[in-house]
Amino acid sequence: MIRAGIYGATGYTGYELVRLLARHPQVEVGFVTSESQAGRPLSVIFPQAPAYELVAAAKAPLDQVDVVFLCLPHAAAAPTAVSALNAGKRVIDLSADFRLKERTVYEQWYKVSHPAPDWLAAAVYGLTEFARAELSEAQLVANPGCYPTSILLGLQPLLAAGLPLNGPIIADSKSGVSGAGRMPRQHTHFVEVAGNFTPYGIGRGHRHLPEIEQQIRSWQPDAPPLIFSPHLLPVPRGILSTIYVNPDMVIGHRSSVIGEVRGLYEAAYEDEPFVDVLPEGEVATLAHVVHSNRCAIGLTMAGSTLIITSAIDNLIKGAAGQAVQNMNVMVGFEETMGLKS
Ligand SMILES: NC(=O)c1ccc[n+]([C@@H]2O[C@H](COP(=O)([O-])OP(=O)(O)OC[C@H]3O[C@@H](n4cnc5c(N)ncnc54)[C@H](OP(=O)(O)O)[C@@H]3O)[C@@H](O)[C@H]2O)c1
Repeated sequence: MIRAGIYGATGYTGYELVRLLARHPQVEVGFVTSESQAGRPLSVIFPQAPAYELVAAAKAPLDQVDVVFLCLPHAAAAPTAVSALNAGKRVIDLSADFRLKERTVYEQWYKVSHPAPDWLAAAVYGLTEFARAELSEAQLVANPGCYPTSILLGLQPLLAAGLPLNGPIIADSKSGVSGAGRMPRQHTHFVEVAGNFTPYGIGRGHRHLPEIEQQIRSWQPDAPPLIFSPHLLPVPRGILSTIYVNPDMVIGHRSSVIGEVRGLYEAAYEDEPFVDVLPEGEVATLAHVVHSNRCAIGLTMAGSTLIITSAIDNLIKGAAGQAVQNMNVMVGFEETMGLKS
């Protein structure tokens, strides 16, 4: 049995972690933090939550936990991470603070000085399926972003196989509104979102772009650039990424190309408990994944273009669920513990 602390429990990912850890058979929740609601029970904010008392981060009893989860905005997470790391705790950070290896790239995209650049090299990028060996020793895990999780799981088998790709990789992604967090802003108000469908940061303008390309290059250093177009979908949760690539496969016949590609995906994900390669003819949808830690992947060939549909729940596989999956690997629990619905 281990004890866990959750910073930022009044947010969407923090509450999702509370829900997952409260039913995890080998974890006790040691503390939950909030700056704005300290002293109140979490159940006042979320009626179905356990009545854990919220404490301010500065008063969190770090000595009583083994691992901490940071569900804080970027730049607020890194200093909290350093305090916990200095106290000898293992840290899983759901923010973007430790995902990018280059401090200058972080500062360019997030418009702040990096609060803890000395820890960047040690952070393990926790896309669990491809990080198990490093996770077991990791002190600090950078949990991947939600869009990156959907796109990277959709691309990895193709890229790792070393197949050359012609032209850009195009990822057209749609996210439910919880992806923007619980803090209300004009563009996420009900009246703005309901009945609407909005692209934002399209092309090469979204902060997740460098994170996705960093990982793409680790699998295929000369991969073409990514065109990434996120959209705000008028649903509470879920991400669907539709990814277009042109593999340079001179096999001639369409059915043999899709057969070869499908073979790569089935081999890569055969033993994965949370990644499902859908049968031929089936495309991934939000209904395959919401409220679960699953990623569903569909493969379709259109002429010489491979269309990959990849769906996740942004708050679970794209955040809290993947964080618990990472924790399970870090401490040696069964990887699926607390995550099977
Ligand atoms: N939403 C997603 O789908 C998703 C997916 C993957 C990763 N992430 C990342 O995970 C992190 C949390 O996201 P979220 O969607 O859960 O955000 P959120 O709903 O806005 O919650 C943020 C939490 O941080 C606390 N907080 C806000 N400002 C703070 C500050 N300056 N110092 C300390 N605490 C502060 C808030 O608590 P109080 O105001 O009560 O103090 C709240 O508990 C972000 O870095 C986000 O980018 C989000």
